[in-house]
Amino acid sequence: MSFLKINVIKSLFLLSILAFSLNVFSAPHGDELYGRYCSSCHGKDGKGGVGVPLALHSFINSVSDEYLVKTIRHGRPGRIMPAFLSLSDAQVSAIVGHVRGWSDAPAPAEDTTVVKGNAEHGEKLFASHCVQCHGEAGMGGKGTGVTFSRKRELPIIAPALNNTGFLAAASDVMIRDTITLGREGTPMTSMLVAGLSEEDIDDIVSYIRSFEKTAAELEQTLNGAGSESPVIIVDSPYGLDETVENLKQAITDQNFTLIRTDFLEHGLVEEGKENKKQVVLHFCNFGFLFQALSLDPRVGMFLPCRVTVVEKDGKVKISTINPKRLSKLFNNHELDEYCEEMYEAYITLLEDAIL
Ligand code: HEC
Ligand code: HEC
Repeated sequence: MSFLKINVIKSLFLLSILAFSLNVFSAPHGDELYGRYCSSCHGKDGKGGVGVPLALHSFINSVSDEYLVKTIRHGRPGRIMPAFLSLSDAQVSAIVGHVRGWSDAPAPAEDTTVVKGNAEHGEKLFASHCVQCHGEAGMGGKGTGVTFSRKRELPIIAPALNNTGFLAAASDVMIRDTITLGREGTPMTSMLVAGLSEEDIDDIVSYIRSFEKTAAELEQTLNGAGSESPVIIVDSPYGLDETVENLKQAITDQNFTLIRTDFLEHGLVEEGKENKKQVVLHFCNFGFLFQALSLDPRVGMFLPCRVTVVEKDGKVKISTINPKRLSKLFNNHELDEYCEEMYEAYITLLEDAIL
């Protein structure tokens, strides 16, 4: 009898350890999860930063839980806000609960009524009333990346509306209400007060819905950039030393400044013991650098520019990272143009060196 009892206690004990380690019975903590996944951009108290303020009552009291869940799941492709695909449903709903906790008001129910209007007329109104903040074709306000280093009290940047993440999350009614009421405490003011009629607003909602196609194309471009090879590799017809000399010349010709040339293993192995057949050239174009850093300071991780020359089995190969991958990596469309330019520069550099 007592033996059985001990066994029962023992297995209960083991079970609770198991449950604890698997986190089965303990509900996820929304505040911890928010702190880990969201606060770096939206601020610890939801007051905003890189991301828009979530604690504002004019925001949180006007959006449904479904809107929040879908926004977390889809993210905002190309607009820095990541898609959180690996969180469990329980974790996402704990985060939503935490965000909801910044207001006492109950969550509004999601209303999926379709709003009908004249999209063509909506386009005209959008050009006169919205483009100055939301950008051409609703691509979003400029400067998402700069916000990493910008001061908190600077104006909130208008989100992209021409965006699969936004369009998937927002119902027509939510879009209509946002335009009608505005969001107190942000630059988004009531368009009813600004003089638009309810009919005008319905027309604008129809126009915003018509973004669905372009938004999908944009996301595809972004994913295309993600499927680019992460590195560019070319074969050199020359020996190692000659290839390095050619590269130095090409770097100067392409208006870059050569910073230094090292063995790849420099600092990793004892001095003098490095593999002499692996050389890396560090170079930079300061104009380019400042331009990129102001768009997104995270680019700094990949600077200065580097080209690696490796000789193996008598064959010489040159490699660099593929800059086209950066805009996808950082989920920042504003980097596209810069990355394209950088890609062209790298390709020209490598072609010059093996000419
Ligand atoms: C003065 C700048 C400004 C103007 C003009 C403006 N907006 Fe906004 N809009 C914003 C900002 C900033 C936000 C983000 C507010 C926040 O932080 O909650 C926003 C938010 C929105 C949202 C919600 C987006 C989201 O992700 O939740 C919609 C929809 C929207 N605006 C539509 C419009 C439309 C349509 C017009 C023109 C009729 C317009 N806005 C005019 C600045 C502006
Ligand atoms: C790397 C920065 C970053 C992280 C991390 C991040 N966000 Fe965002 N979030 C943004 C940005 C930037 C926007 C605005 C997108 C735009 O400008 O188009 C945004 C938009 C949003 C919106 C839409 C707000 C509106 O006005 O409709 C919600 C909701 C949101 N984020 C919630 C979250 C939650 C919850 C988390 C954590 C699970 C999170 N975000 C993590 C940067 C981030």
